[in-house]
Amino acid sequence: MAKTRTIYRCNECGAAHPKWSGQCSSCNEWNTLVEEFEQPRATAASYSGPAARPVPLASVDPSAAKTRPTGITEFDRVLGGGLVAGSVTLLGGEPGIGKSTLTLQLLSALAADGRRGLLVSAEESPQQVQLRALRLGSRHEGLWIVAETALPAILAAVAEVKPELLVVDSIQTVFDPDLQSSPGSVSQVRECAHALVIAAKASGVATVLVGHVTKEGTLAGPRVLEHVVDTVLSFDGDRHHALRLLRASKHRFGATGELGLFEMRDAGLVALEDPTDLLLGDRRPDLAGSCVVPVMEGRRTLLVEVQALVAETKAAMPRRSGQGIDYNRLAVLLAVIERRVGYTLYQKEVFASAMGGVQINEPAGDLGIALAVVSAHNGRPIAADVVACGEVGLGGEIRRVGQMERRLGEAKRLGFARAVVPEATPDIPGLTLLRVKDLRTAIDRLDLRAET
Ligand code: TYD
Ligand code: MG
Repeated sequence: MAKTRTIYRCNECGAAHPKWSGQCSSCNEWNTLVEEFEQPRATAASYSGPAARPVPLASVDPSAAKTRPTGITEFDRVLGGGLVAGSVTLLGGEPGIGKSTLTLQLLSALAADGRRGLLVSAEESPQQVQLRALRLGSRHEGLWIVAETALPAILAAVAEVKPELLVVDSIQTVFDPDLQSSPGSVSQVRECAHALVIAAKASGVATVLVGHVTKEGTLAGPRVLEHVVDTVLSFDGDRHHALRLLRASKHRFGATGELGLFEMRDAGLVALEDPTDLLLGDRRPDLAGSCVVPVMEGRRTLLVEVQALVAETKAAMPRRSGQGIDYNRLAVLLAVIERRVGYTLYQKEVFASAMGGVQINEPAGDLGIALAVVSAHNGRPIAADVVACGEVGLGGEIRRVGQMERRLGEAKRLGFARAVVPEATPDIPGLTLLRVKDLRTAIDRLDLRAET
């Protein structure tokens, strides 16, 4: 029997260290090292498992990796058509975002189509899951459940049910009693995931592993799992809003640029072809401080409302806050407005948000954010039929951004008539372009100057 060895493993990045320390020297996170017992692996010489035979690449049948639609259109869109037999997908997201709901709906959709699915519910009892299933209006013969956390029992259940799709919710609660490290530790999670990957490849069962992402990193972060799975999906959104975004950050069977959109409703997640109503339905264009921005999320364009509020304050340190907008970017834009346009903002509190729980992480949002702030500052609303798109340079100049045609095409499709854009933007038939060289010009063209 090989000897075990004590090591210290980082819960965040999975790096192993011979000694404990307060900070992981690999990822620089604090208080993430936990004690672990490492069992040496079998060496190549002692390996006696079945070996794969080499074949000419040209003789390999590519249809073995064919996707099969799940019936949940936005999920299939992100995966480039659906699930591949024997593939393993990691679905990560913050607690409460809707991972269990999405996976249950996935299993229900398959079952409704006469396809068998198995849910390994490692966190919730079958009764709890049944209540959720009833709420989602799903009652199908082909949906099986087992409330189990031990790996051998899970593998036995898979062998018994022989499902087309296996969902493990969540991978962090699964443990292998043969390993000495404690349940929930990185090595447990990684080894269990590894065993499930091997089982999926051997049996051809498409497998979805649910993983919680916590900011504190108290549970083993799904980052250590990303290497062993075929596909990594993240499920995001603001818990206080209904919009949910599904993205792939790794996908061995296709491209990663697609975005799936859902709305969380009382009866579960609804696939959203068109999120416009959710994003712009509550907009009040008569109010100053609102500007619509076409944002690229992967290959999809979202029209997002940016709101700003500027309020006078006597505080020595006026507050600035950005929701869904990077704080540093907001600070830069305020400085540009101050220096290049000449409005005094240093005695004012400035709040800016991207509505609907969307994050604006690209420079293309600059112009819209800056215009929303100016509009709020001057109390002059931006016309309802206008979108704004462009990067704002430190000189106040408006710079080109990528995929302008797609962005403006979507704005036109949704009924916008005018767009404030960088000077070099090519014509878009049916849309009036207000080409501007700098922020001042944009303010003039939109008639945002305060009346004097
Ligand atoms: P859940 O799928 O349990 O999240 P996760 O598995 O990612 O932790 O969903 C959590 C939230 O979703 C919960 O706060 C309630 C809400 N919800 C709905 O609004 N409608 C529904 O039909 C369901 C099932 C949940
Ligand atoms: Mg859950």
